[in-house]
Amino acid sequence: MIESSFQSTISNQQSALSLVHSYHDGTKHHFHQFARSLGYLDWASQPSPFRSFRGAPEVPLSPRPDAPPSSVGDALRHSLGLSAWKQFRGSRWSLRVNPSSGNLHPTEAYVVSGSGLHHGVYHYAADRHALEPRCAFAADWPDDVFLVALTSIHWREAWKYGERAFRYCQHDLGHAIAASRIAAALAGLRAEMRPDWSHRDIAALTGIDRDEDFVEAEREEPGCVMVVGRSSLAVDREHLLAAVRGGRWTGKASQLSEAHVQWTFIDEIARATEDPGRAISASQSTIQLPDYPITQLPDRAIVLKRRSAVALDGRSSIGADGFFDMLARAMPAAGPPWDALWWDARIHLALFVHRVDGVDPGLYVLVRNDRATEALKRAMTRDFLWERATDRLPLFLLARGDCRRLAERVSCDQEIAADGFFSLGMLAEFDASLAEFGPAFYRHLFWESGVVGQVLYLAAEAAGTRGTGIGCFYDEPVHDVFGLTDHTFQSLYHFTIGIPVEDTRLTTEPGYEWERSGH
Ligand SMILES: Cc1cc2nc3c(=O)[nH]c(=O)nc-3n(C[C@H](O)[C@H](O)[C@H](O)COP(=O)(O)O)c2cc1C
Repeated sequence: MIESSFQSTISNQQSALSLVHSYHDGTKHHFHQFARSLGYLDWASQPSPFRSFRGAPEVPLSPRPDAPPSSVGDALRHSLGLSAWKQFRGSRWSLRVNPSSGNLHPTEAYVVSGSGLHHGVYHYAADRHALEPRCAFAADWPDDVFLVALTSIHWREAWKYGERAFRYCQHDLGHAIAASRIAAALAGLRAEMRPDWSHRDIAALTGIDRDEDFVEAEREEPGCVMVVGRSSLAVDREHLLAAVRGGRWTGKASQLSEAHVQWTFIDEIARATEDPGRAISASQSTIQLPDYPITQLPDRAIVLKRRSAVALDGRSSIGADGFFDMLARAMPAAGPPWDALWWDARIHLALFVHRVDGVDPGLYVLVRNDRATEALKRAMTRDFLWERATDRLPLFLLARGDCRRLAERVSCDQEIAADGFFSLGMLAEFDASLAEFGPAFYRHLFWESGVVGQVLYLAAEAAGTRGTGIGCFYDEPVHDVFGLTDHTFQSLYHFTIGIPVEDTRLTTEPGYEWERSGH
């Protein structure tokens, strides 16, 4: 009996892993064919970027002038709040502290308790910088700890990107995790992702499993739970879940679009990568942090200023030290945001270097976890140089040459990949990580790439330059450039950094009315 249930777990795991492979391969962009999507934008069905819960009262958050100061408000303002409103002719749209593929913002956030709040579960309404109470519960709760639970509305991304959208939702979640960790650090708080929370637990905690509250509303997919606090981060999961189950729920989720297209491949990959939760606490984890300087935190002004470049100037260069500094920040270290993750680094950077003074143009690789160096050497089947580029970093020159056109071509022909100082692909240790942690870890690989992306955005901003995340790239041609022939490594996300060319036709207003001068 025990053996047969064990065997069925193994075979479920294997079929889930094979679905991960078929989804990942089936949503690759090829030169001759993009991943499946509608192929046009159905503007009539464009999903609203903001969800609200009808019937839930509003709890304003600081720094809104009508709210008392709170660390929850401060942390949310500087992670998931609005950073600006843009306007061009008749259109007006908001930007946020966290970036998002296509500015579609599939990530929703829930907060549990926190000092100054009644014990409860709250939905974060970024458009108003307010909380909407979802559940009031009675339970003992430490005053200086709160939870941030992140979920994704797949439909928001699928509306535009079709089947590849599940990947983008995971990238965005990774950006939101890093943004949350960094904002917590700016408020003097610790924050960690909790691997023991299963998807089922997260759904119960946030109430996204409550069919009666989501009639006609697009469903949300569990992401992760982060615990945020000043000292002890101990939270009794079972106790809290019991309190929430017995709590008083309010509010009905708003519908974001009138009509929908069903992308069943996304439902399948979501099911195959459902997280059963795992018994690893951060202190037991296998993280081995290399001896790099602790990441310097950006200040709040930099965090609010972060933007994606829509075009880069195609001529400015950066000095070697500035380049190495940016890469050093992308190395895992003992500080935020890396200390929010419970696994050791699995993402490595394959760089296209274009304009760095004192560094030859060409292909490079930054190995973010020493353990992977030999595996990368074996997997990259081309006759590469593997010359150490600097003493400061595990950065290797693979091949010299002008790779501007190559970088642009493999990045869905986007000029930003050629017009900066450098662009890069993020190579994940794919098969080994899935074998070690199971199919749910497919999501985590994207999350780590999103965390790396967020750090690069902020490093670029701090240096007076600008970055852009690139989710559109031709998967296999990228692998081919680096001689990768199997699934040992897979490129999951791209990024570029340079000097931005501003679009002067757009007007910019602050994220919130109360931030206009005079308030
Ligand atoms: C996962 C991800 C993928 C992205 N892919 C692209 C891309 O392929 N090309 C591009 O020009 N911008 C890309 N972006 C940038 C987004 O368009 C940008 O984040 C969004 O418009 C919001 O603007 P902001 O970053 O200035 O707040 C991507 C961003 C993310 C987070």
